[in-house]
Amino acid sequence: MKVGVIFGGKSGEHEVSLQSAKSVMDALDPLQYTIIPIGITRDGRWQVGKGAMKALETAQVAAVESKGTTTQLPKNYINSTIGGLTPASATRSVDLLPPALVNEIDVAIPVLHGTYGEDGSIQGLLELVGVPYVGAGILASAVGLDKIAMKQMFAAVGIPQVQYVACTRNQWRTNPEELLDMVEGNLAYPCFVKPANLGSSVGISKAKTREELAKAIALAAQYDRKIIVEQGLDVREVEVAVLGNDVPMVSVAGEIIPSNEFYDYEAKYVGGNSKLIIPADLTDEQREQVERYAVEAFQAIDCSGLARVDFFIERASGRVLVNEINTMPGFTRYSMYPKLWEATGMSYSKLLDHLIQLALE
Ligand code: ADP
Ligand code: DAL
Ligand code: MG
Repeated sequence: MKVGVIFGGKSGEHEVSLQSAKSVMDALDPLQYTIIPIGITRDGRWQVGKGAMKALETAQVAAVESKGTTTQLPKNYINSTIGGLTPASATRSVDLLPPALVNEIDVAIPVLHGTYGEDGSIQGLLELVGVPYVGAGILASAVGLDKIAMKQMFAAVGIPQVQYVACTRNQWRTNPEELLDMVEGNLAYPCFVKPANLGSSVGISKAKTREELAKAIALAAQYDRKIIVEQGLDVREVEVAVLGNDVPMVSVAGEIIPSNEFYDYEAKYVGGNSKLIIPADLTDEQREQVERYAVEAFQAIDCSGLARVDFFIERASGRVLVNEINTMPGFTRYSMYPKLWEATGMSYSKLLDHLIQLALE
């Protein structure tokens, strides 16, 4: 079977995708699969085969500078069309559909995180050309990546979440003081400010004062026209892996112990000092809730294939809240998603076989 592994992409998580895809290509059983590597450069050009491999081999996770609790813009980040606003200067891809993609491959694995990969864009393209693909479809991808749309879908089925305020870049630009008043009227410090459509903690800040809140919103507004401000809680962070289509399975739960004040980009990829504890130490009631909410979250956005559902457990009360769903979670050998399945009894290679079968169902 010919498997197109798609990686890179026009995303703040480009480097993370390269790491994930490298692990996937190493683990696909050569007796069963012929791999066609399909790389997408940071500016949206497609490279199939040899050139794509080279891009992979030279890839490294970019270190981002951290100042206090604010993650700075990665230098390679392309601030182009997030939120549907395409500046006139944005790169337009003329080599969008490599013939190998359309004519040769039996199934695609879009190992792409964030914008243009995990947001329904590539899924729409694969639907158009009729290539089966691993993972969520257009709707689940788009809703899963947009933290505001995701929270609205979760709220509709009664999944517990942190309190939040949604706002726009336009509100920030036109009347910043009014927006700050509105946030302070609804939430207490500390709060977390996030671009609505990103991942890997890029553009996320923890704000403890009005001044920090203003800086955090200004930063998030550089990434997205939609911004979410959440009540910051003192939490444990627990994650579970979901696998399947209409009848999904749930893995054991794992806990993250971030090396920084919160699980920012540096703590995720650069320092290497964050810890994963599998299985997480939960009460029976918390475990039952985590498993139930994971399936409810998966189904609320009409997800398929795979997802990692991330939870907060409030330290003071032990309350279980859903933080977010990731429809293409980090997929290196050391990432939480495959590790959770390993701990549940499914090896990394078997997991890939299973995902490919689900894509062909
Ligand atoms: P991303 O999609 O980039 O992973 P998250 O919403 O998961 O963004 O936030 C990244 C990290 O920031 C979380 O893993 C957690 O460490 C911290 N965080 C985010 N929101 C909150 C919150 N409301 N309260 C406490 N910590 C939070
Ligand atoms: N967005 C990253 C890849 C994750 O959630 O694992
Ligand atoms: Mg997260």
